[in-house]
Amino acid sequence: MTHDFDGFADAPRFERFTPSHDGTAVDDLDPSFVFDFHAYDDLESDTQRWSTWLSVEPLSRGPEPRPDWVVTSQGAIDTELGILKTGKEADVFLLERGEPGGPSVVMAAKRYRGEETRSFHRSGAYTEGRKTRRSRDARAMARKSAYGRTVAAGQWAWAEWEALKRLWVLGVPVPYPVQIDGTEILMEFVTVDGDGAPRLAQTRPEPALLESYFEQLREAMAELARHGLVHGDLSPYNILAAGDRLVIIDLPQMVDLVGNPQGMDFLLRDCANVCGWFRARGLEVDEHELYGELLAHAW
Ligand SMILES: Nc1ncnc2c1ncn2[C@@H]1O[C@H](COP(=O)(O)OP(=O)(O)OP(=O)(O)O)[C@@H](O)[C@H]1O
Ligand SMILES: [Mg+2]
Repeated sequence: MTHDFDGFADAPRFERFTPSHDGTAVDDLDPSFVFDFHAYDDLESDTQRWSTWLSVEPLSRGPEPRPDWVVTSQGAIDTELGILKTGKEADVFLLERGEPGGPSVVMAAKRYRGEETRSFHRSGAYTEGRKTRRSRDARAMARKSAYGRTVAAGQWAWAEWEALKRLWVLGVPVPYPVQIDGTEILMEFVTVDGDGAPRLAQTRPEPALLESYFEQLREAMAELARHGLVHGDLSPYNILAAGDRLVIIDLPQMVDLVGNPQGMDFLLRDCANVCGWFRARGLEVDEHELYGELLAHAW
């Protein structure tokens, strides 16, 4: 929408504003008194919002040191670019954050669904041992009311956020977690030539790459095991193939190997899912061998 100020409708979108009340020539001013004033057009209400970076609490922002592509400026605008994938619990959208005329970045926005009448398939077993402090929330979740579903969506989002941060700091290949705001996680968009990276399941790597992929996964799973962690839903559908590199995604159900009564079952299942796929592609790997090796890291 264009504002018409006394006929200046075509004035440049970005203007330099200088506080020269007395008509002092701009060039004579101490540069420290000169600041940039950006006059933006109105946001497109259905696809844009002001960047939420500064409105979330510090704990809701990604770990430091931050990659240099993270846009933190107050004047940045978030623009919705559309949906990337719909999933069982969440939908993943593409969101561009940037200052008009400045640097911008496209991120993946994973939004957990809360309102619909469907329940999470990931429930009981993963959350055993996790407590919901507010009893009102616990009761609402048990009743599966709309409010309860929103609480549950927020808890899954928060669990995935914590898992992403933890793994990122450990150096495990996961997308960099930029921020969380309620049921929305913004994270690094993993790409190949600018498009979303394919899931491992969709790829047919030649033997050398196949072997390298398996080594990368084995190392990532070992690092998790050393810290007593299990992905809990690892499969070639939750691993992205970014060229030579694998990136692990979809972590809301990450569990404690020992603290969760089914931790070891989840680990064995992760090993079976991963090894099954590699075997079908021609690599001689065995889930029980991998499982044994990972357990040895844990103790
Ligand atoms: N950071 C990312 N970069 C690129 N693509 C992503 C990213 N995160 C998610 N995706 C894409 O979105 C899909 C769904 O993401 P994810 O697995 O985290 O959600 P989900 O709700 O569990 O989905 P599903 O039910 O399909 O497992 C992924 O398979 C992947 O194709
Ligand atoms: Mg998934």
